[in-house]
Amino acid sequence: MKLSQLKKFPPVCPGQEGLVHGGDYNPDQWLDRPDILEEDVRLMQLSHVNNASVAIFAWKALEPEEGVYRWEWLDETLDRLWKGGVSVILATPSGARPDWMDRDHPEVLRMQENRVRNLHGTRHNHCYTSPYYRQKVQEMNRMLAQRYGHHPAVKMWHVSNEYGGECHCPLCQQAFRNWLREKYGTIDKLNHEWWTGFWSRGYSSFDEIESPAPHGETAIMGLVLDWKRFVTYQTGEFFKNEIQPLKELTPDLPVVMNMMGLYTGLDYWKLAPLVDVITWDNYPSWHTDQMSTWEKAAEIAFVHDINRSMKKKPFMLMESTPSLVNWQPVNKMKRPGMHILSSIQAVAHGSDSVQYFQWRKGRGAFEKFHGAVVDHCGHEHTRVFREVTQLGELLEKLAPVAGSSVEPDVAIIYDWNNRWAIDALQGLNRNRRYAETCIQHYQSLWKQGIPCDIIDMEQSFDSYRLVVAPMLYMLKPGVAQKLRAFVEQGGTLVLTYLTGYVNQNDLCFLGGFPGDGMQELCGVWAEEIDSLFPTDRNSLETADGSFTVTDYCERIHPMESCQVVGQYGSDFYAGEPALTCNKVGKGSCWYMACRTGQDFLDGFYDRLAEELSLKPQWFGPLPEGISVQPRGAEGHTWLFVMNFSEEEKSLTLNQAMTDAVTGEHAAGTLTLTPYEVRVLRIDD
Ligand code: GLA
Ligand code: ZN
Repeated sequence: MKLSQLKKFPPVCPGQEGLVHGGDYNPDQWLDRPDILEEDVRLMQLSHVNNASVAIFAWKALEPEEGVYRWEWLDETLDRLWKGGVSVILATPSGARPDWMDRDHPEVLRMQENRVRNLHGTRHNHCYTSPYYRQKVQEMNRMLAQRYGHHPAVKMWHVSNEYGGECHCPLCQQAFRNWLREKYGTIDKLNHEWWTGFWSRGYSSFDEIESPAPHGETAIMGLVLDWKRFVTYQTGEFFKNEIQPLKELTPDLPVVMNMMGLYTGLDYWKLAPLVDVITWDNYPSWHTDQMSTWEKAAEIAFVHDINRSMKKKPFMLMESTPSLVNWQPVNKMKRPGMHILSSIQAVAHGSDSVQYFQWRKGRGAFEKFHGAVVDHCGHEHTRVFREVTQLGELLEKLAPVAGSSVEPDVAIIYDWNNRWAIDALQGLNRNRRYAETCIQHYQSLWKQGIPCDIIDMEQSFDSYRLVVAPMLYMLKPGVAQKLRAFVEQGGTLVLTYLTGYVNQNDLCFLGGFPGDGMQELCGVWAEEIDSLFPTDRNSLETADGSFTVTDYCERIHPMESCQVVGQYGSDFYAGEPALTCNKVGKGSCWYMACRTGQDFLDGFYDRLAEELSLKPQWFGPLPEGISVQPRGAEGHTWLFVMNFSEEEKSLTLNQAMTDAVTGEHAAGTLTLTPYEVRVLRIDD
């Protein structure tokens, strides 16, 4: 389907048309400065900020003592903002607890892996199971919904903040045991799936089971995986508990949780269905000495695409910094232009918002030197404020983009369960780099301006023409069959070393790898896998040349039907197959038995894109550092052309377009200055 034929999604914040521009706003820290609170509204208007996320850590300000409530400041804040034309995303305050709660009900304090209970302090450290905390959170959320749920300013619920971490307290242990009982039914079944005959680890009853601990069990991968799954489950249950009164009293207000990109502690694929809109917090270190600007941009693009793919609809960039953060070893400022470029990158990949942490810098404590729209100087005459304002103006001009989307032909599988299993496995080469490997494959497509979805292995592959599944070590039930059907029906599948070693409980498949019937699809049997030392090199020899190989080399045996496209260049397996292509039904399955560098992948995906006609027709080849992403709906296609380099770059437009911001005509050669972004529109 043409992008311009897609239907628009409704606004992410119901009732607020266009793109959301705003961020975390903490008036509760400034209650003794009414002048500043007034000034905030003037500055928001000046910077074209149209939304504020309010009261994220305000429990103590709302309920200073148990049962004693202070609503006046929040009443006034919402009225003041609304009068000033600023909408509100209202938070529930469970991300940090007031002192009286920890003092009088210590069960809410999280217990660490080593079974030491935390003291009162910091944030994001509550027990997800505690019945008392769940009840208090519900009471608070109910009061917030009753009092503010129908305030015209309030457009959305920001539930808690950045859920994460785990609690090992007795209540959580009990909940974990119940979860396991539910999953396995009998202890014998659990013992079998966890392979507990090993080291005499067998359990006699569910009551003996403890979460992984540094001074306890860490050697049963089934336990390690199930614990991580349970933590996601229990976090989801806590969320469901939080939103119960919100959904009951304000069914039309979306609920969201701000996610954290590739954070490994939670399986976001499992939490995504619980929220109404995906929102995430993005803090890349731009301008690092570790990689080029465009390499960083490709990495972030991948994460934006996960966030869009989780619901296949516009998401929100819930937090980002207008300038710098305060928690990197070196906190470099965004160079002029980077704020607009990196913010528009989010929109290019499907965000309908650009939001910040935070609106105004606090005077004290941990985050006083974290970037904010308003600095300690307090006025608008700063570089950062000017860039935020320019961006605000730009977002207003791009309002028609809101609700548009993309339907990629390509999907890359990035699966949290698979990542956990790869990270937990003992052996091979410790340089696992699962996420980085997925991003490498992605980067080759990104460079060509080919849009991608990033999905997990449980989703349908039907709408794609190319599915790339790097290091698909774990195969959950049914995945092998789904992949086979995808290829038989004409799809192209790319698999690599380390495919199909274990099932969903980390038990190795018997009968050779890739297991679960995948050998017929891949056309190969992987007999053994070699790990290379960091300085070791092998090579992949193909008709296109010789490419460096590092870290992992599988020795594979192709079946007769399978075409060998590349061989190993050295070691005792020199000359053996290392890259194959197997035709199955109407499609084909590629198998890369070794880890290559970006050079090989770029050439490989360039050719594949040519063969499968995946390359967008709107523009010619893209120079290094230029990214182009499309969005479309209702008669229009927007191309976001972004220069993630420190040099001027040009590309060729294959058809006439209109600059969506200036209305000017664009055709032929388009030249972008360093960090420049252009948004071009094609009308049907
Ligand atoms: C996270 C949190 C914010 C703030 C920022 C700082 O995203 O949600 O409260 O601490 O980090 O970068
Ligand atoms: Zn707990």
